[in-house]
Amino acid sequence: MQKFKYNTSDRRKVTTLRLLEMKESNEKIACLTAYDAITARIFDESGIDLILVGDSLGNVIQGLDTTIPVTLDQVIYHTKAVQNGVKRAMVVSDMPFMTYQISVEDAFYNAGRLMKEAGAEAVKLEGGDYIADKVRVMTEAGIPVMGHLGLTPQSIHKFGSYRTRGTSEEEANKIFNDAICLEQSGAFCVVLEKIPYQLAKKISSTLRIPTIGIGAGPYCDGQVLVYSDMLGLTTEFNPRFVRRYAHLHEVISEATSRYLEDIKNQEFPNLNESY
Ligand code: KIV
Repeated sequence: MQKFKYNTSDRRKVTTLRLLEMKESNEKIACLTAYDAITARIFDESGIDLILVGDSLGNVIQGLDTTIPVTLDQVIYHTKAVQNGVKRAMVVSDMPFMTYQISVEDAFYNAGRLMKEAGAEAVKLEGGDYIADKVRVMTEAGIPVMGHLGLTPQSIHKFGSYRTRGTSEEEANKIFNDAICLEQSGAFCVVLEKIPYQLAKKISSTLRIPTIGIGAGPYCDGQVLVYSDMLGLTTEFNPRFVRRYAHLHEVISEATSRYLEDIKNQEFPNLNESY
């Protein structure tokens, strides 16, 4: 029965310190996104270490093409829901576009709202050296910060595509230096999205803090996927880095068709399902 379960007997709460220990002992960190309590509870009970309330909720929950319109209040709402389902995993919330770019004060205040109102245990920001001052202030005040480098979806209109980042020497050097800058500014972890695995390997072996990869190869200290991709709820988004561990789109479609048919044929509910 427990065949596919990683040994989850270690029920210690996951913290920034625990993540560092995991990197030091070469235990890979498993991360998934979640946006509601029921899904977060399943992931938590299965032993997932980190749950990210990503601004990908714009795509997954709201059906948007980009993450740009997502608001802080929406992330707060979904983070509260996720926290209600979680006991062990560390819950990290994304700071949406324009909630941390304007000024240090603004970023600091909004990160504080995610911690105080939503129960986030850390916040994630996209960007490198240009957010260093914000990372420093937050970290010093007790707000753990996860960085996010490589493909940064909030900058989609600047780059014009979701292509792999860090393929030129100049871009690779910038990502590498940004990673060092984030660590020096106090970040406890860095997400590396869609960069060559050689670059991710170099960053992961240079930094003391863990790296979490998505489309960044096997040498990162952990991995993250958007849960609806991992579970096959999506079918049309097929980048190379997504591995589908289930085909829930098919399962749900099939169950819905049977339900519909039973209602139309007056086979649901029967008298045993009635009062
Ligand atoms: O918003 C999100 O879900 C993310 C992950 C893909 C890293 O940023």
